[in-house]
Amino acid sequence: MRFLAVLYALIALAAASPIGFFDELFKRQRRAPSPGWVNAVSSNSSNSSNSSGGSNSTGYSNSSNASNASNSSSGQGGQTLKLQLIVTGGQLPASSSSWSDVEITTLFNSSRTLNSSQLYEVGKTVNTTLSNSSYSGVAVLANENSLESLGFFLSVVADTNKSVVVGKKAADIVKVANTTYAANRGSLVSSDGYIYSGAVYDPFSAGWGAIGAVYSDAVSWLYSPANATLVATDSSIRTNYSNFTNVDVSNSSLPIVPIVYDGDYDSSLLSSLSGSVQGVVIVSSGNSTTSTITSSSLPIVFASYDEPVWPTDVPMGAIAGGYLSPVKAQLLLTIALVNDVTSSSSLVSVFP
Ligand SMILES: *[C@@H]1O[C@H](CO)[C@@H](O)[C@H](O)[C@H]1NC(C)=O
Ligand SMILES: *[C@@H]1O[C@H](CO)[C@@H](O)[C@H](O)[C@H]1NC(C)=O
Ligand SMILES: *[C@@H]1O[C@H](CO)[C@@H](O)[C@H](O)[C@H]1NC(C)=O
Ligand SMILES: *[C@@H]1O[C@H](CO)[C@@H](O)[C@H](O)[C@H]1NC(C)=O
Ligand SMILES: *[C@@H]1O[C@H](CO)[C@@H](O)[C@H](O)[C@H]1NC(C)=O
Ligand SMILES: *[C@@H]1O[C@H](CO)[C@@H](O)[C@H](O)[C@H]1NC(C)=O
Ligand SMILES: *[C@@H]1O[C@H](CO)[C@@H](O)[C@H](O)[C@H]1NC(C)=O
Ligand SMILES: *[C@@H]1O[C@H](CO)[C@@H](O)[C@H](O)[C@H]1NC(C)=O
Ligand SMILES: *[C@@H]1O[C@H](CO)[C@@H](O)[C@H](O)[C@H]1NC(C)=O
Ligand SMILES: *[C@@H]1O[C@H](CO)[C@@H](O)[C@H](O)[C@H]1NC(C)=O
Ligand SMILES: *[C@@H]1O[C@H](CO)[C@@H](O)[C@H](O)[C@H]1NC(C)=O
Ligand SMILES: *[C@@H]1O[C@H](CO)[C@@H](O)[C@H](O)[C@H]1NC(C)=O
Repeated sequence: MRFLAVLYALIALAAASPIGFFDELFKRQRRAPSPGWVNAVSSNSSNSSNSSGGSNSTGYSNSSNASNASNSSSGQGGQTLKLQLIVTGGQLPASSSSWSDVEITTLFNSSRTLNSSQLYEVGKTVNTTLSNSSYSGVAVLANENSLESLGFFLSVVADTNKSVVVGKKAADIVKVANTTYAANRGSLVSSDGYIYSGAVYDPFSAGWGAIGAVYSDAVSWLYSPANATLVATDSSIRTNYSNFTNVDVSNSSLPIVPIVYDGDYDSSLLSSLSGSVQGVVIVSSGNSTTSTITSSSLPIVFASYDEPVWPTDVPMGAIAGGYLSPVKAQLLLTIALVNDVTSSSSLVSVFP
């Protein structure tokens, strides 16, 4: 009884602050970054071809593109294009006042993980900026906790060939966004000297999967431009769900999608929540086919921080989050629900 009373109180609170609250409420400590990752990726150029992604790494060997570090973006006819730096958190260095052709817009000064209404606010600013032909790209300054959310969210909602770079170090993200080869790669996350695809960036696997690096005065790319397959030009999201780029969303229509841990709660949780939430992400611990958390009315996505979750791992009617982390699955489900994509069969075609 006491548990239920607390839960109801929490639900009332959560309605005011949709995603972030539930996320923190149910989140356990995620695994620590494995020691030694720095060494694992510290290959130098003479042996890097053996470690950059397995088979015949085309990225490094095609050095004519990789070496084109800091070409600036300039428009047709010699017109200089501007960059928009969108501040959502983090610290602007004093030198930012001397940057040429960089416009700075401050949206928030948040030190917490951005919630879905703040993410949509950023999405709107990105959309407006990139729809304007005098901008070559955007850099989004954020607090460390928001890198994964912003990188993934913008990967889905920003359908653009311009550069979109998220990070916590203003000088780095401006430098990356100011290079020609940052374009045509979808949204990127720049963190601790490396550059990642925002669609797959994992804050707990620093260094792994990097597609580029930022040095003191140059940016270097490991691969030619490509999009993550989830949002590639021929992906299901881009071809069948083009409305996912819709950023004109009112706060009141934002769904509440908590992240819940399997094993801790059972189906009574969902019956008490139904009516207050529009979907649930369950953190799967291995094979969840026998999970007692099921629902015939709410979309439920199983996802894991440690390993991919496939359709054979989830109960009937539930959706497998594939390789998406619970945070990414929560965002993708939120975007789908915002656009009235709710049926299990549609959601299955959206998730990887
Ligand atoms: C690459 O070289 C670095 C530095 O010499 C070394 O630490 C690393 O183990 C090497 N990696 C491979 C895959 O050979
Ligand atoms: C780079 O790696 C090669 C082969 O592992 C090694 O012989 C060389 O000394 C390394 N160079 C630097 C600068 O670490
Ligand atoms: C790269 O791999 C090949 C074959 O696996 C090996 O012979 C070669 O020594 C490796 N090169 C470096 C620099 O580690
Ligand atoms: C690398 O490319 C060569 C030539 O294209 C091919 O013979 C070889 O099988 C490839 N190796 C791998 C591991 O894909
Ligand atoms: C490198 O790029 C050139 C020019 O685009 C292309 O012809 C060649 O096939 C590429 N090589 C590899 C290994 O991808
Ligand atoms: C470099 O990348 C550009 C942009 O994708 C591509 O058009 C060009 O063919 C590439 N050039 C080389 C030499 O790989
Ligand atoms: C790299 O940059 C140089 C100098 O800016 C330019 O001449 C060259 O065409 C560029 N290479 C590619 C592949 O775009
Ligand atoms: C962007 O690149 C251009 C050309 O290299 C340079 O003139 C400009 O200062 C750069 N902007 C910033 C903010 O670094
Ligand atoms: C901006 O939003 C419109 C309308 O949803 C969409 O068609 C367009 O692709 C978006 N542009 C970007 C850069 O995301
Ligand atoms: C990546 O996706 C964007 C937006 O759909 C597209 O404009 C760009 O050409 C794509 N890049 C590549 C390398 O296909
Ligand atoms: C999970 O368990 C079910 C039945 O318990 C089984 O059919 C399925 O193959 C398992 N999935 C994996 C990936 O082992
Ligand atoms: C968005 O697109 C999907 C797929 O075409 C469609 O089912 C859904 O109704 C659309 N959403 C809205 C609000 O129109």
